[in-house]
Amino acid sequence: MTDIRGKRILLGLSGGIAAYKAAELTRLLTLAGAEVRVVMTEAACRFITPVTMQALSGNPVHTDLWDASVPNNMAHIELSRGCDVVVVAPASADFLAKLALGLCDDLLSTLCLARECPLLLAPAMNLQMWGNPATQRNLKQLRGDGIAILGPASGDQACGEVGMGRMLEAEEILEEIEACFQPKLLGGKRVLITAGPTFEPIDTVRGIANISSGKMGYAVARAARDAGAAVTLVSGPTAFVAPRGLERIDVSSAQEMYDAVMARVAKADVFIGVAAVADYRPKEARGHKLKKGTGEITLQLQPNPDILGAVAAKRNAPFCVGFAAETENLDTYAEAKRRRKKVPLIAANLAQHAFGADDNQLVLFDDQGRHELPRAPKIALARALIAHIARLLPKK
Ligand code: PMT
Repeated sequence: MTDIRGKRILLGLSGGIAAYKAAELTRLLTLAGAEVRVVMTEAACRFITPVTMQALSGNPVHTDLWDASVPNNMAHIELSRGCDVVVVAPASADFLAKLALGLCDDLLSTLCLARECPLLLAPAMNLQMWGNPATQRNLKQLRGDGIAILGPASGDQACGEVGMGRMLEAEEILEEIEACFQPKLLGGKRVLITAGPTFEPIDTVRGIANISSGKMGYAVARAARDAGAAVTLVSGPTAFVAPRGLERIDVSSAQEMYDAVMARVAKADVFIGVAAVADYRPKEARGHKLKKGTGEITLQLQPNPDILGAVAAKRNAPFCVGFAAETENLDTYAEAKRRRKKVPLIAANLAQHAFGADDNQLVLFDDQGRHELPRAPKIALARALIAHIARLLPKK
């Protein structure tokens, strides 16, 4: 969570019941080391008090365009010049309409107009208000003006209805804020990624799996998306929700993962195999639950296709990146794997530290040699890996 350390974030609240989520967002932002300044509209103050937001942000909350305590009496200029990003959450239908027209009759709308930094809006409203042609017209205008619209999501609404218009959760907005500070190193690139374990059925209720959680692969997918790539994530069974804004294909066995990758690889500029793919599968998966007997039983295994090897062997193959999890001789085994699979880059990690953990440590092997990425949260390593890939990609 170091991506926004020291960043100055101006958090604006307009009127909506989702204002309570802005309290949690403020807490997450300050925990991540950001400096948070809060500006609230009059309507927002009806849903949550400035006292709450002041206590959580550690800074006075601003509500008034005519605040005489601001030295030059121009709170909108003072506040908007001092921040790296403006985030409005919740952004009501009324507030979107106001911004689309360039109206500025209160502090928040005025500083949005006066700002020089990026503006992110997290809409929150009833589903009919969201679907109303006027709102959709305003959103089109705002996107055209270069303003980022975060969400909304679909689900239960405070009014009792169910549908589109729920504000994103605080965690999701935090991820979007972190993403906005990432350099767009893979802008315009299409990246295909595998993640998680595979499951090879023995019978209808049993199978061979492994302990990959999917954390590393999902972190790589998020880092690639944040770097501006269009990402397709082919995922084995995991408990994770895919990062927003990418295509996720769920598979179970290695053969399904192979088929899903092969169906999409022609369009990819980069392929990253993070999945822990089973090298073998039972020769015959029984169509019923095996009954317990008294003696030993033998399970015959047959090799699975090598997905990374097959992608790398294609004519016009994308830039291929493999992972190698080893319990010993990390350097020797990883470099041998890179040469055997004929890939330009392999990321090696120690299996005993990598599987399931939140942190990891990587050694990258490419034609230039060995590059160590010291122990860090998986998302930080994923961002460093993406930066390394961007440096190696052929320049057009
Ligand atoms: O999911 P986590 O809990 O976060 O753990 C992350 C991880 C340890 C799974 C990940 O960091 C990792 O190391 N992934 C590769 C695991 C592995 O053991 O790979 P391998 O040595 O079996 O295979 C080497 C490469 O070939 C990998 O890129 C793999 O995706 C690919 N492969 C392997 C077999 C196969 N049949 N097809 C493949 O494409």
